Amino acid sequence: MTRRKNNHWIIPPGLEPTPFDLKIMTEERKGRLVPPRSLIKTPEQIEGIRQSGIINTGVLDLIAQEIHEGMSTAEIDKLVYDYTTDHGAIPAPLNYEGYPKSVCTSINEVVCHGIPSEYEYLEAGDIVNVDVSTILNGYFSDASRMFIIGETTPRKAKLVNVAKECLAIGAEAAKPWGYIGDIGKAIERHARKNGFSVVRDLCGHGVGLEFHEEPEVDHYNTHHHGMLIVPGMVFTIEPMINMGTHEVFIDEEDGWTVVTEDELPSAQWEHTFLVTENGLEVLTH
Ligand code: MF3
Ligand code: CO
Repeated sequence: MTRRKNNHWIIPPGLEPTPFDLKIMTEERKGRLVPPRSLIKTPEQIEGIRQSGIINTGVLDLIAQEIHEGMSTAEIDKLVYDYTTDHGAIPAPLNYEGYPKSVCTSINEVVCHGIPSEYEYLEAGDIVNVDVSTILNGYFSDASRMFIIGETTPRKAKLVNVAKECLAIGAEAAKPWGYIGDIGKAIERHARKNGFSVVRDLCGHGVGLEFHEEPEVDHYNTHHHGMLIVPGMVFTIEPMINMGTHEVFIDEEDGWTVVTEDELPSAQWEHTFLVTENGLEVLTH
């Protein structure tokens, strides 16, 4: 995937540039990567993504109520599928690039994209990420939470907590007219301070009209500005924080499951955010 293409902010023919246009054109002249106009959502699109986010949050709230020791991850998948379709929506992962289930369930050393299975049971001490993505009337939303099954070790509990803080700190660092690069910088600092590492091979992403749009949202310090953050953009922040090495690999057998190289645990939280003139607004609360 190309990382630095020049999008050129286009003024529709016959229109005078607004102050909003001029601000973006000034950034572009400084050599910054600016979003194409297509990434700036209209009020109608924002409303559609907001409604999608409400269903997505309903799914996660249901899982929070129902998740328990001894449950199979296939049962979680069924709860997600049934709730989503009962609310007139579609689980975005289902059949996405051949993905076979409605949700990702990632336990302990599984970083993300774990596939639910009737043979996999939640055990006391497990930390599990449930990653839910919803399509409602063509609008996409995406969020994930961690759940601790029974009692876990203090170190695993700390990992879950620090990963949650990393999401909040990343969101706080993202300012309208700032840069996407500010997010990963803040996240990596917090993870490192706590003795943890940040996964580099997977990133957050623009979302809303498609499952994965520009920009790529790295969760580590790339030492690049990255794309300008402009009001009207919608993207996820979803840091994956590891207890040991940041290196990961993909399970060869299923082609999806991402696992830490050292098989130490990993934790992730995710929200979909709208950029406003005042900062980020969570669309998946
Ligand atoms: N929800 C994941 C994300 O944040 C995507 C999962 S795609 C799937 O991008 F097909 F694996 F579900
Ligand atoms: Co995502």
